[in-house]
Amino acid sequence: MRQIRLTEVHPGMILARNLYSRKGHILLAAGVRLTEVYLHKLRRLKVKTLFIHDERYADIAIPEYLSIETQQRAFSILSSTMEKIHNKEAFAIDSISSIASDIVEELIIQPSISIQLTGIATHDDYTLDHSLNCAIYAALLAHSCSFSIPQIKEITCGALLHDVGKMKVDKKIINKPDRLTEKEFGIIKQHPQSGFNLLLKKRWELSSLVAHMAWQHHEKIDGTGYPRGLQGEEILNYARLLAITDVYEAITGCRPYRKAMNLEEAYDIIHSGLGTAFDEHFGKIFLSKMALYFPGMEVLLNTGEKAIVVHLLENTPRQPMIRLIAYPDGTAYSPPIEINLAENPHLSIVSTCHI
Ligand SMILES: [Fe+2]
Repeated sequence: MRQIRLTEVHPGMILARNLYSRKGHILLAAGVRLTEVYLHKLRRLKVKTLFIHDERYADIAIPEYLSIETQQRAFSILSSTMEKIHNKEAFAIDSISSIASDIVEELIIQPSISIQLTGIATHDDYTLDHSLNCAIYAALLAHSCSFSIPQIKEITCGALLHDVGKMKVDKKIINKPDRLTEKEFGIIKQHPQSGFNLLLKKRWELSSLVAHMAWQHHEKIDGTGYPRGLQGEEILNYARLLAITDVYEAITGCRPYRKAMNLEEAYDIIHSGLGTAFDEHFGKIFLSKMALYFPGMEVLLNTGEKAIVVHLLENTPRQPMIRLIAYPDGTAYSPPIEINLAENPHLSIVSTCHI
């Protein structure tokens, strides 16, 4: 099985996993042979990637960290809460904390935790996609930073809700495909304060730390963030952790104004901001756990050979187990050879076929 971009999918390829709609219905079932008509519809639905069956890599399993059921439930709870806030209606918060708790329980039972893109379906609502992805990364990072389970649940809940203040901003500005004007950016910058005001009203049902996460997630360690220009430990530790996953998700996810950046670029941006934009301790743990590669991804080695990533190793996510598939001249390895990159320091990945 391989996960590839929709733009690289050709008619005739076979779908390896069910494709679900936002409401949880199966759009296309695993095993279906893709046609140009299907691909056209998937492009209109803005589907980003597909899992494709590939005989050569039939034994490569792509892990699913969060079940489709939990993803769908999170989307529908989050979406109805956001809609109520947008329409200035009363909203309940207990369903959000219960889905945060379910997400954490599903994620932390995984035997090895590396922070990787989890293949969540892409929708046309960037705030929802962003909030759910952020919550998953924040839960994984908090787990790696040895927070307790109740704390991880609180952090995940705060990550799900950190951008609720954006519901007060005109959707035309949020989804604007072009660069924002200074005035529009000024309006966007009010969302941490609006989020805090909204969530503080719920402090009897929800930890007030969740409200503070919304308020502080754009603050930076060196005081150059907003809205208050807090510095270092003036910023709540939960918010310092969330700020890292917020930026990572924003860089690696698709946005109306640009394509998703690749993972090495995301790595470099976080690395260069350690101690200035981002908390150094949490940032270093994030980078040590952040996967740059995924099972089923094709990679080019420094030797000119081509390989495919078989699986990630827990403590060396940037040196995965790979399978050599072609010599530099393109001749196929027969049979293919499996190599642990961590045990072969003379070999390194120079480029990837990013998903
Ligand atoms: Fe934000």
